[in-house]
Amino acid sequence: MSSNEKMTVDSAYEAVAPDDFPAMMDVDRYGTRSSAFDKIISATHDHFWDPLDDKYIDYGQPFDLERELLMPSDFNMELKTAVSDKLDEKQKIYLVNENVRWTMSSILHGEQGALALSASLCHILKDPGAQEYAANQTREEARHVTGFAKYIQARWGKPTACGVVLEQLLNEIVASPLVWKKLVGMQMIVEGLAMGTFATFYAKTNDPLLRRLMQLVMTDEAFHHKFGKIWADRTVPRLPESERELIEDWALEVFMTLMRNSSGPEQKKEIYERLGLDWRWVQGALAEALTDRNMRSDLQESTNVFRVLIKTLLKAGIITERTAPKYAAYVDMQELYGEGDRMVGDDIAEEGIKYLQELNGAGGGNAVFALGGTAAE
Ligand SMILES: [Fe+2]
Ligand SMILES: [Fe+2]
Repeated sequence: MSSNEKMTVDSAYEAVAPDDFPAMMDVDRYGTRSSAFDKIISATHDHFWDPLDDKYIDYGQPFDLERELLMPSDFNMELKTAVSDKLDEKQKIYLVNENVRWTMSSILHGEQGALALSASLCHILKDPGAQEYAANQTREEARHVTGFAKYIQARWGKPTACGVVLEQLLNEIVASPLVWKKLVGMQMIVEGLAMGTFATFYAKTNDPLLRRLMQLVMTDEAFHHKFGKIWADRTVPRLPESERELIEDWALEVFMTLMRNSSGPEQKKEIYERLGLDWRWVQGALAEALTDRNMRSDLQESTNVFRVLIKTLLKAGIITERTAPKYAAYVDMQELYGEGDRMVGDDIAEEGIKYLQELNGAGGGNAVFALGGTAAE
């Protein structure tokens, strides 16, 4: 690996090879701890929750999957096309709910990726404060894995297999020894996509259990997002042009791949087959709908989940005028330029933290302060 690809411009993110444990026992290392992450580490107690404790979330809450929609049907892309004419009411409910199962399964695999990735950061980051942060995140991702596994079990029994595109991305960033690739890939892209999805489900779902799960997970994720932001603020502005462009191009490539495939009908062909539909026909119906102007703006609404991710990259300096036009096809970039740093999930997270503080009997507004303030300073 060339030193170029390593791109360490802030000592808090200095890294060693994953198998270089001796470097961790360097006696001078222990005393050189960055304070950049102290606030978000201390805040973890305030937003503690336990997916195995009914006090926080009750997985026994029933939901009739055959008669009730987990999400409003206008959130479903296929039902805005000719697919709708081929299905009766029961089949429509099945399609909507199986799509939610597919999304929740993708999130579960993503949470497992986040767990493995945060753990891998503990092996390569040299800074003791950064390591403690990563260990904390690992623990939180582990409870997300438990939380989503239990939700899927309660509603369907088993998750669906991970889509090829997401699986490849998760493999790449978990295995990579490059800190920037791990942080841009997970903390910004995957977590950004997850925050957008969580916020949408929190606002729209008809299942109170799913709504609660979203709220609890978001109280943690808002801090993970913050960690990525601290990295970006300290690193990106100081990078040489060529290195920043390398990150910018990689991020765009990942975004485009995810975008093209996130709703790719081939990945959900089993769902369609059970409804007597061929995935290629569904793909055609979706493509046809996209040529309709009203339909296109409707469909764009469902891509709002990508907004958080694009905003994150933009505010981090990883989208410049070089690449902005490519993202403009999916969101209103002018609107994003004018917005402050607050994210769509921050309000939901802060409300969730207040709720958890009361439940946990914690004293202060510590966590809220860390989320709203500039933890990087
Ligand atoms: Fe997570
Ligand atoms: Fe996370």
